[in-house]
Amino acid sequence: MAGLITMDDLSNDEIQSILNDAERLLPVAEGKIYLPLLQGKILGNLFFEPSTRTRMSFETAMKRLGGDVVNLGDVKTSSVVKGETLFDTIQMVDGYTDIIAMRHPRQGAAQYAQDAARVPILNGGDGAGHHPTQTMLDLFTIKQAHGRLDGLKVVLAGDLRYGRTVHSLSHALTRFGCELIFASPKLLRMPAEIVEDLSAHGANVVETEDLLSSLADADVVYMTRIQKERFADEDEYTKVAGAYKLHASNLEGTKEDMIIMHPLPRVDEIHPSVDKTRHARYFEQAFNGVVARMALLCRLLGVTVPEDIPSAGGEF
Ligand code: NCD
Repeated sequence: MAGLITMDDLSNDEIQSILNDAERLLPVAEGKIYLPLLQGKILGNLFFEPSTRTRMSFETAMKRLGGDVVNLGDVKTSSVVKGETLFDTIQMVDGYTDIIAMRHPRQGAAQYAQDAARVPILNGGDGAGHHPTQTMLDLFTIKQAHGRLDGLKVVLAGDLRYGRTVHSLSHALTRFGCELIFASPKLLRMPAEIVEDLSAHGANVVETEDLLSSLADADVVYMTRIQKERFADEDEYTKVAGAYKLHASNLEGTKEDMIIMHPLPRVDEIHPSVDKTRHARYFEQAFNGVVARMALLCRLLGVTVPEDIPSAGGEF
């Protein structure tokens, strides 16, 4: 069965339909009603890299829907330390589970795992590659705030070179006709092949080092952490560390309904003074990981989300 490795695996109609499912699942994610749509199903969580939100929200999503989860646990206590290959690990976990969520430090590892598995793989981040389930919760958050995805002006800021969240998100936003502004230090520019791909898909991309002057007419400002662990050279990291620090005082003159997002964890790129402003959306965004992943789990397991879930709001 096909999994979700990059955003190319979903059409725009599928994305919209999964977001509608996610919206109907909100009362289930909030624990207001119990809907065991995934009873009897087992998710395998295989995280070969640190994770808090992605791993926990997958687990919460599965459990809120009556399913179960088995975890690889700490890589140090698994057979990976005995030299087991990823291929063998996947072939075995494949037999224990109905679907696998995986994070791995190597770019391309999720596709490799999908090639080894019969069950669907959900790519929870492959090195500096892709992070499509994060993109689904990001799109959900944007649609919740603005009522639409098309035609928005979105600033993606920070580490665009190594940040997998912005690689997947920029692709999806381009497909929905958003205007993109890439704000980063020169060293951390969006990789040329991604910019070329976006342009080939008709993107209107502006690249700048000046984050603050891009804020004025933005609908969404998506901040990212500088991915320290992906730098080959510590000195290079020191050159760009702390490049952007958004403070509440920088937000004067921005659009009333502009939202600030961040996949989290943050380091110092969003000052806590921003948290209390009407623009901050990153904690809601993290919560939305549960509904977005619930909807994805149902879709990839071939389970239909009912149209009439009690106490659900209308479609947005
Ligand atoms: C992101 C990731 O792992 O790529 N985190 C997440 O999934 N929310 C962002 C990051 O680590 O900076």
